[in-house]
Amino acid sequence: MIARPFWSLAAVCVWSLGTISAANAASARPVAAEKGMVVSAQHLATEIGVDILKRGGSAVDAAVAVGYALAVVYPAAGNLGGGGFMTILFADGRKTFLDFRERAPRAASRDMYLDKDGNVIKGLSTIGWLAAGVPGTVSGLEYARKKYGTMTREALIEPAIKLAEDGFILDQGDVDMLESATEDFRRFPATAAIFLNNGQPFLAGQRLVQRDLADTLRSIGKQGVDGFYGGETGAAIVKASRAGGGIIDQEDLNRYTVRELPPLECDYRSYHLISAPPPSSGGVAICEMLNILEGYSLRQLGWGSAQALHYEIEAMRHAFADRSGLLGDPDFTGNPSQKLIDRGYAAKIRDAIKPDKAGISSDIAQGVAPHEGSNTTHFSIVDDVGTAVSMTYTLNDWFGARVVASGTGVLMNDEMDDFTPNPGAANSYGALSGEANAIAPGKTPRSSMSPTIITKDSKLALVLGTPGGSKIITAVLQTILNLIDFEMNIQEAVDAPRIHQQWLPDTTNVEKYALSPDSRKVLEGMGHRLEDSQPANHLAAIIVGAPSLGGKAIGRNRYYGANDPRGGTGLAGGY
Ligand code: GLY
Repeated sequence: MIARPFWSLAAVCVWSLGTISAANAASARPVAAEKGMVVSAQHLATEIGVDILKRGGSAVDAAVAVGYALAVVYPAAGNLGGGGFMTILFADGRKTFLDFRERAPRAASRDMYLDKDGNVIKGLSTIGWLAAGVPGTVSGLEYARKKYGTMTREALIEPAIKLAEDGFILDQGDVDMLESATEDFRRFPATAAIFLNNGQPFLAGQRLVQRDLADTLRSIGKQGVDGFYGGETGAAIVKASRAGGGIIDQEDLNRYTVRELPPLECDYRSYHLISAPPPSSGGVAICEMLNILEGYSLRQLGWGSAQALHYEIEAMRHAFADRSGLLGDPDFTGNPSQKLIDRGYAAKIRDAIKPDKAGISSDIAQGVAPHEGSNTTHFSIVDDVGTAVSMTYTLNDWFGARVVASGTGVLMNDEMDDFTPNPGAANSYGALSGEANAIAPGKTPRSSMSPTIITKDSKLALVLGTPGGSKIITAVLQTILNLIDFEMNIQEAVDAPRIHQQWLPDTTNVEKYALSPDSRKVLEGMGHRLEDSQPANHLAAIIVGAPSLGGKAIGRNRYYGANDPRGGTGLAGGY
């Protein structure tokens, strides 16, 4: 359990009071609320989002405020110096997708992370200024607010300014994250000045104050995007980038624009998914896997049965082979998204899946294994009228490239690492594996981020997403299966142990307790190679109408939120 300030614990209890037990298994009760719900990875950001909703703000307003707040209280992944995706479903049925992910600077080149022998130079795309793409978050939050929000920029950014200026008391969960990057902070004086306490890691109960970040937020509050991309902040980023061997210049910052795209949509059983299109591979891969799995009676096979897991693993293997070779920035590559989410294509894959034998990844395709950073953050929000926002944004790795331009307080991303640095091997489609995601000036790296919304009979049913790099895709898939096929409530669905298979390497990661010894034996007998889990995801999910799909409401509550217990700082809160 994380240590929490008393008032915060009290808030959790109050928010839970309306909930009668709806859990069947060993999960806590979902948090229930009547009018609005926010689930984020940091409790202070959740509280800010709930407050915006209480003040009459919309889900989009709350998302903007939570986005700015997480940049202060969850600096490992919440950000101004990174990028992300926002999926919105409005109460009237309109839906949209905002892509404010990073773009490669104009001076970027295909081989920029390779040595003269064509080998990837370790660390060049993950730490330091050359790892940074042109950030999109401020542009994205401002675009969302201006086009779809109802409140002023000043009102939405003010809580974040206060948290940065006055500081906030660190919980053990906050400290654990900061501590994980201590050695990297020490390499960069401007970063160490903020995230170390006189050169030493912060301790729980100490206050993290970020005055430079407060000034940058104030500039954004006054001038909008110009307060970030231009003026003193933009100049400081360009100067620090140049001094640190980076390639971002003022023209890169000036040119950054948000892309508004149609979401990626598909149906699964009687539900409709609205998710992330390319440059994310998430929506396509999730839909491809669901199409494959729709042909099996998962409910009858049962949660955790070796047979159901075998089909899930094989669906993952095929979808990841496709997304790794074929998907990338839609302005640069012709993504065959509709072919990949075609039900006929799924039927052909089912024909190739043997019911009693693991597939062999190299028989499906040759290529470059997925390698995204896994340290992102997701939040889900629903407001009183039923507008839903599902937003995932990231610096890529925890604390991104670990660099800050002096005087800005802004941590920069290492999103350039999400490009394929060494494309080239031919895959079974004749495409060069990784070519769709090769580095090019102005291009956006492929992502796994999958902010997803699900409807039934055109009505909002579910909002979910998670961090986790490539594990985002499989975690969202399994949560959907847990709810639709295995009839769990929202907290059970989020808590349930997960597996992860991503085509390459040809092994499946298994969380503790995901497999009974006999299920493990059956799967190994089929030829599956099983390994321990990679670092955990942190899902944030809201279900509408009842704690489980098709269930009964509890009192007047309409929204039921689940914060993933795998994270140490998050909170589901509502009113
Ligand atoms: N950097 C994590 C992702 O975009 O999936």
